[in-house]
Amino acid sequence: MTREEAFDSIKANIENENSIKHMLATEAIMRVLATHLGEDEEEWGLTGLLHDIDMELTEGNMHTHSKLGADLVKELGASEAMIHAILCHNETHGIPRETKLDKALFCVDPLTGLIIAAALVRPDKKLASLEAKSVIKKFKQKGFAAGVNRQQISLCSEIGIEFDQFIELGLMAMKTIAADLGL
Ligand SMILES: [Fe+2]
Repeated sequence: MTREEAFDSIKANIENENSIKHMLATEAIMRVLATHLGEDEEEWGLTGLLHDIDMELTEGNMHTHSKLGADLVKELGASEAMIHAILCHNETHGIPRETKLDKALFCVDPLTGLIIAAALVRPDKKLASLEAKSVIKKFKQKGFAAGVNRQQISLCSEIGIEFDQFIELGLMAMKTIAADLGL
């Protein structure tokens, strides 16, 4: 599967612009993490890009979300490792996260929302001027972007990355695609 095929299939299955931006941000962070950890950048990036491909098809049903996604990415030619990571990023299925790829996708997923929310409260609403320390400060304010699962983000420790560095890498990754994110 090429990156173009993966993105075409996201565009075919997702209408919501913000959802597409979430996939792109997840992809960007997964690529930076893979490079940082010496893992397969393409496999990690495509896993991030495709992880919520069934978001609109499953209409918020957490029992089918990720199962349908796993079937769809299998048809696209995803590796077993990608399929597993996508399946277990939804805890409803009770499938344990085993590999680094599984664990990375799980902790990156909520990070995109925190960083986007932190950018949107800046005067210029841009990522360029946002610093990691201010994202960390927002993380500690429980009432800020309250829907963001802090505990899940903290699981970056399971892939051997310290929290502060995880925020820095995530922010740096998202800055590289700021124009695509409209930020
Ligand atoms: Fe997601």
